[in-house]
Amino acid sequence: MDLHNIRESYKFDSLLESNLESNPFDQFQHWYQSYAELRIKDSNAMAIATVDSQGFPSNRIVLLKAVENNELIFFTNYGSAKGQDLLNNPVVSALFFWREQERQVRIQGKVVKISKEKSEAYFATRPYSSQIGAAASEQSQPIESRAALESKFSEFQMEYPEGSTVPMPENWGGFAIQPLSFEFWQGREGRLHDRIVYTLERSEWTIRRLQP
Ligand SMILES: Cc1cc2nc3c(=O)[nH]c(=O)nc-3n(C[C@H](O)[C@H](O)[C@H](O)COP(=O)(O)O)c2cc1C
Repeated sequence: MDLHNIRESYKFDSLLESNLESNPFDQFQHWYQSYAELRIKDSNAMAIATVDSQGFPSNRIVLLKAVENNELIFFTNYGSAKGQDLLNNPVVSALFFWREQERQVRIQGKVVKISKEKSEAYFATRPYSSQIGAAASEQSQPIESRAALESKFSEFQMEYPEGSTVPMPENWGGFAIQPLSFEFWQGREGRLHDRIVYTLERSEWTIRRLQP
């Protein structure tokens, strides 16, 4: 596989100090809104990296479901590999890649579980099949076959037919990322990309430009 000749140039936009928001959440919202307007599937997808007890990193995509009170919320199974990593070592790196606008946003932060009530409120809004799927899956645990998985799904469907209230699984819920830093990357010509980092220092956001 030879990928040597894949080369892109970046000229969609710039990110200059003169048009930056002073608060990174405002900057994030501004960029996110403009990406969401493109109506690209899974525009709220982010990769989150966690570290296990041996120090090994892993990452995977999850969907950002809310940004409120300076927290980024996503939902998962607390017993999953990521759930265990985050409960043991509650720090995360989150990454958004917005290709069509030649942008990347990196976030580092602490992570806390959100309240059960908030998770339940969100769980209740999920489509029936997603609720059953969450109930039927011990996420990240091995299973002997696809058929075994489907039969667990059917058992839950029989127990909780469509129209009934599917209880939120004990191990399921949201995490809130509490960012300590954001990096906004805007691709530019000649590889002179813009990189602006916001770091939380003594409760204030400090802004620095990094070399590309
Ligand atoms: C587009 C997309 C969206 C996803 N959204 C979620 C999500 O919101 N929550 C989740 O737990 N897993 C989500 N997944 C699945 C995860 O990437 C991952 O496979 C799963 O959570 C198990 O990860 P773990 O074993 O590292 O815990 C999504 C995957 C993709 C590709």
